[in-house]
Amino acid sequence: MAEHTPQPTKGHHSHKKHGFTGQVGFVMAAAGSAVGVGNLWRFPYLAAKDGGGLFILIYLILTFTFGFTLLTSDIAIGRRTGKNSIKAYAEMSPKWSFLGILTFLVPVLIMTYYAVIGGWITRYIVVYLTGQNQLAAQDSFFTDFITSPGQSTLYAVIFMLLTAWIVFNGVEKGIEQCSKILMPVMLVMIVAIAIFALTLTHTDEAGVTRTGLQGLAVYLTPSFEGLTLKRFLQILLDAMSQIFFSLSVSMGIMITYGSYIKKDVDVNASIHQIEFFDTGVALLAGMMIIPSIFVFEGVEGMKAGPSLMFISLPKVFASMPNLGRFVGLAFFLMAAFAALTSCVSVLETITANCMEIFHVKRKPTTIVLTLVYTAASVIIALGYSKFYIELPLPNGSIGQLLDLMDYISNSFMMPFISMLSAILIGWVVGPDWIVEEVEHGGRRFGLKGLYRVMIKYVVPVIMFILFLTSAGILNI
Ligand code: PFF
Repeated sequence: MAEHTPQPTKGHHSHKKHGFTGQVGFVMAAAGSAVGVGNLWRFPYLAAKDGGGLFILIYLILTFTFGFTLLTSDIAIGRRTGKNSIKAYAEMSPKWSFLGILTFLVPVLIMTYYAVIGGWITRYIVVYLTGQNQLAAQDSFFTDFITSPGQSTLYAVIFMLLTAWIVFNGVEKGIEQCSKILMPVMLVMIVAIAIFALTLTHTDEAGVTRTGLQGLAVYLTPSFEGLTLKRFLQILLDAMSQIFFSLSVSMGIMITYGSYIKKDVDVNASIHQIEFFDTGVALLAGMMIIPSIFVFEGVEGMKAGPSLMFISLPKVFASMPNLGRFVGLAFFLMAAFAALTSCVSVLETITANCMEIFHVKRKPTTIVLTLVYTAASVIIALGYSKFYIELPLPNGSIGQLLDLMDYISNSFMMPFISMLSAILIGWVVGPDWIVEEVEHGGRRFGLKGLYRVMIKYVVPVIMFILFLTSAGILNI
């Protein structure tokens, strides 16, 4: 179709030689980055904590307004400039180069701990492969593991090296190839486990029988119990910060991936596909985890919070007659695929920025970064043993090194970056700078009216509030 042939436009830059082969490769890689432990572990526990269906409803609305705006901005900045965050922001406005550097710092921090979480998942794969599912169900198993210096660092290093290998092989042969295989496999596995979870039934010692379908109802029914304005705002903030993390926005990752897409790819359609993929997996993860926990442990079990995935689920697998070991293995394999494609996107963003700034080739850059981050992962993994600290965080929780890195990058920097980036786009370069890129080659950008309003007015204000709250300055 003639209208879809790419035409050079003033202000659009020539593109990198290496990139995704087409739309499918891009969508799989970007969805690979988006779908990760955030979807599998964080979303279900937030949904359980924040009133089930009510949280889901708010989350969906925010994804298709805020998430859509932030994702569109990042991807369009990447494709229009053909550069990574540091140089991309400098090109948008030289006075705003600091924003590029700030954005670059987010993956730099996230990379110190993401492989550590990947290592935890890998440990559980080994547990289920070797048939030790009763061992994994013991209360102290997880804590014993993360506090053992040797074991926790070993698994973090294994996961780190796996990630490095994929990045070392480049965008097309490494990232795209692995995402095209792992993402569909992951999707099939999660659908299968979710359906299986709905068929579960269990009668406890008190003679109460609970079924997976009842669990589904608990998950989906909005709970307005004890809902006050304050509580509602908290749910809103939880949903908002979850969306950042889940869609991998405002950290330069989608700028880097956007810089790898060809000019004839439909950016708008790709963005919707990525959003559907990411939200779909989050919903399915909830559909799989919440009913299983409900069946075996009742409503009380769902209040486990962050330990849901590593402590409560193994108990559920151990209670399943016969099949538990296999379901456990399938679950953690799927989680490892999801975490690996996310971890790859973080390392790729750091690598690509370094290659661009220092004019060095991919392979030596990856090798140096691998050494640096293997050391960093070891330090963070030792944060539960040798380097154990108890740090009070502004949100009232007590954290170790991993929580500190997570807090600075996700709760503190991301809203701040989104706010500044929205001001830059909305008020300095103008929303049309983005709209033009999405419409490039005659493509349709159906929601551009919504995009303009969101980026100019809504995002800056809400991000400011989110930032003040996470920084502990504003207390709602
Ligand atoms: N989006 C990923 C998830 O939901 O798990 C997590 C993630 C990936 C966060 C990459 C940050 C990141 F840089």
